[in-house]
Amino acid sequence: MIAAQPRSRILGTGRYTPARVLHNTDLEKIVDTSDSWITERTGIRRRHIAADGELTSDMATAAGRSALAAAGISAADLDMIIVGTISGDSPLPACAVHVQQKLGAWEIPAFDISAACAGFVYGLTIADQFITNGAACRVLVIGVELLSRILNWKDRTTCVLFGDGAGAVVLGPASGDGRGIVSTRIFSDGALAGSLVIPGGGTSEPLTVDGIERSRDKVHMVGQDIFKVAVKNLSSASLIALEGAGMTAADLDWVVAHQANLRIISQVAARLSLPLEKFVLNIEEYGNTSSASIPIALDEAVRDGRIKPGHNVLFCALGAGISWGASVVRM
Ligand code: ACO
Repeated sequence: MIAAQPRSRILGTGRYTPARVLHNTDLEKIVDTSDSWITERTGIRRRHIAADGELTSDMATAAGRSALAAAGISAADLDMIIVGTISGDSPLPACAVHVQQKLGAWEIPAFDISAACAGFVYGLTIADQFITNGAACRVLVIGVELLSRILNWKDRTTCVLFGDGAGAVVLGPASGDGRGIVSTRIFSDGALAGSLVIPGGGTSEPLTVDGIERSRDKVHMVGQDIFKVAVKNLSSASLIALEGAGMTAADLDWVVAHQANLRIISQVAARLSLPLEKFVLNIEEYGNTSSASIPIALDEAVRDGRIKPGHNVLFCALGAGISWGASVVRM
């Protein structure tokens, strides 16, 4: 197959992670867990937690500013802002409009994507479409989560897994030199919608005092249900995106996978016949930051020089919905 011609390109990356760090040993004092259980089952050692009063849109804005600076453009140059998040400042309006306001961008479209951990890959795919058809030139795509405020800190099956943070990219038109988003694919399957939910607070279950006492407004997850499909779907989506790019896994320089569980990433690596050394890993430091995990890891690897211009990089993510996707990008 002939390699597809990229239509949009990542012009700059950025991230923001809160200063406060919660270690596994800190969690031992909160719930019935242990550093060894968390490390062995997930690969997580620490996670960053937003400061009191810090908002999702504050973190998103900081990551966005960092990506704009890396791209060498200002907020006034943007045509669109897309924010992947399930933990925005409030249910209404979109977190993206607060980011637009804080960045000082013009009256451009600004909207949220609700695809949980796949939110960044969804946002990238949508931005790529707008740039390809000429409806937008510069798009800021942000993945941001402030999950620490929507976790049940008495539920050891969820509270040890997640962290807060934001990552961002600026997308613009590809210049014809082969660099850019070569292929990107997104999927959903509502059959597993009940496996990862915030059951209360929507129209099906408006919040009541009893509901709040039973933590119906917090994240509930059947981890094993997600684990089983994660390895299969992340691998298959990656192969589909690679095929769309006219590549095989052997052509990849790096993989930036969603950081939910080191065991999931290891099994995806095995299915793609790739060594784990090809994967950018930071789950140890941040835990699962949902839609923020890929752009945070991407920005770290770009800034420390692991990912270089011209490298072929695969993104793959899966989360609540379930929703998942994969993108092949020549940096
Ligand atoms: N500390 C100690 N023990 C624990 C803890 C904990 N924090 N949590 C669960 N356990 C116990 C369980 O109660 C169970 O005990 P039992 O055997 O006596 O019943 C035992 O450990 C094993 O529990 P499992 O759920 O079988 O553990 P598993 O190996 O499946 O790991 C995990 C759980 C880490 C959640 C894993 O299933 C996973 O990573 N799932 C995928 C998560 C994911 O990818 N989510 C999607 C993205 S998130 C998003 O979209 C927002």
